[in-house]
Formats: sequence, C-alpha cells, structure tokens
Amino acid sequence: MLIFKKQSDLRNWISRQGKVCIGFVPTMGALHRGHISLIEQSKRECELTVCSIFVNPTQFNDPADLAKYPRPIGSDIELLLQAGCDALFLPEYDDLYKTDELLQTDLGGLDALWEGAIRPGHFQGVVTVVKKLFDAVRPTHVFFGQKDFQQCSVIRKMMRNFDMKISFRMCDIVREDDGLAMSSRNIRLSAEERKTASNIYKTLSTATIKKETLSPEMLGQWATKELGNAGMVVEYAAIVDTTDLKPATTWEWPTVLLVAVKLPSVRLIDNILLS
Ligand code: PAJ
Repeated sequence: MLIFKKQSDLRNWISRQGKVCIGFVPTMGALHRGHISLIEQSKRECELTVCSIFVNPTQFNDPADLAKYPRPIGSDIELLLQAGCDALFLPEYDDLYKTDELLQTDLGGLDALWEGAIRPGHFQGVVTVVKKLFDAVRPTHVFFGQKDFQQCSVIRKMMRNFDMKISFRMCDIVREDDGLAMSSRNIRLSAEERKTASNIYKTLSTATIKKETLSPEMLGQWATKELGNAGMVVEYAAIVDTTDLKPATTWEWPTVLLVAVKLPSVRLIDNILLS
C-alpha cells in the first residue's frame, strides 16, 4: 500500500495505474471492522481501492470532540494493509483546504434535520471535505456506511448538485456481537455505559416487529421511551421517510428509524431500515 500526503502525488500515481474502476473510502481513521467492510466492498467492485484518513475540523461543532477524536495511525495502517487497500491518502489541512471557505450548495433542507439540527454546520463541513476528497481522488465508485444514514442522504444530494458521475454505494452497518454499531467513539464508553449502549440495537430490532401494530409516530414514541428507560438521554428517535428524512406518517413509503442518544461520555447514533 502506498501512502500519499499530497493530492498532486496521489492523482499522478492513480492516473499512472491506468485503471478504469477506482473505489474510494473516505474516513476519519480509528478504523474498525465497519470501515474495513467498506474497503472490502470496494475491492470486490473496483480495480483500485483508495482510502483517506483525515480528521476534518470543519465538521466538528464541539472543539472538545475534535480534540478527543482518536488518531491511532499505526494500527490504522496495519488494518488497511491486511485488508489489501492499494493507497492511503493522508492529507495535511493546508493541502486540502487551500482556503477556509466552506462549500455553498443547497442541501435541500436535509442538512437541517436530526443530526444537522443538533450539530449546526456539521453537514456543511462534511460535504466540503467530501467534495475536496472526491476532487483529489476522482473515483468512479464511493463507499459509505448506512451507520451514518443522514450523511449518505446529504452526500448524495451534493453529488446530484454537482452532477458527479460517481456510483454511490451505501454499505450495511457492521455491529459488535451484542448489536452495538461499531464506531470510533465506542472506546470512550465505560464498561457500564457499554452495557447500556447495547440496548440501542435491542430497541431498533424490536421496532421492526412493533411496526406491524403501531403507526410511525407511535413507534417513534415507543422507541424514545425504551431508550430512556434503558438509561440513555434520547436526542431523537424518529421514523422518517428515507428520501426526504421528514417524519413519516404512514408505512406506505420506505422508512428508517433514526436514533441519537447521549451517554455521559459519548453520544451515539444508529438506525434501522423498516421497509
Ligand atoms: P468516519 O466516521 O470515520 O466513517 C467513515 C465511513 O465509515 C462512513 O461512511 C461511515 O458511515 C462508515 N462507518 C462507520 N461505522 C460503521 C459501521 N459500524 N459499519 C459500517 N460502516 C461504518 O463519516 C465520516 O468518517 C466522515 O464524516 C467523512 C465522510 C470521512 C468526512 O469527513
């Protein structure tokens, strides 16, 4: 695996390979099996797989969260080598951000809901860096996790706005044995919090059964209560339309249950498709 710090070097190397199908997996590092599943999917579909690790300051609205974000670069490189990744892009802030300007593009209100309402400016930071990374790598295929369902919706909208001819793949959520969605932030959970957090998936999977007897609004209320009873502060638990992410009122269209909870040391998000 080759490691590039400068986008010009990465781009020259990619074009010298003469490959048609280039897969790209952007990450912020502290890699786990969830990230690696994206690398594996890219390797199945593409001739060349590029991963990036960049802890993007513009998407953190809490400076403490940015400061605490884990950066275990040695073990990340090891995991990427084992997975057979072809190239790792490790940009410096100044090479990626020639100016501090953020991307101005209409995200159709998708950026104002749920995560966007709680973390103002977060998605503008995400689309800014993702566009810069796409411009650097020029992939044919990109791989993102369903774990960040709203992020997938927002990035797809940005890609439509710029008429990007790139295939977008949303990959399944990889979970621990007890169902907790893998996340770089999980290592900050205490043993007790870790046990409490396993109730998130229990609630999500029970919701897929409860759906048969409850309306979307009632199921959202039920999930909020369940998560609260398990000892978590619920920021939101809502059944939303998979297209516009607005609260669903019927089961007629595809829906997803989006959840964000707070434990004392970490904030966690998760989701499950309901149809
Ligand atoms: P990061 O949180 O590192 O996640 C990188 C990718 O891994 C995202 O597409 C995310 O959805 C996916 N992922 C995380 N946990 C997963 C899991 N348990 N199963 C499957 N996929 C999982 O998301 C970001 O970084 C950043 O916002 C980024 C897009 C890189 C822009 O800075």
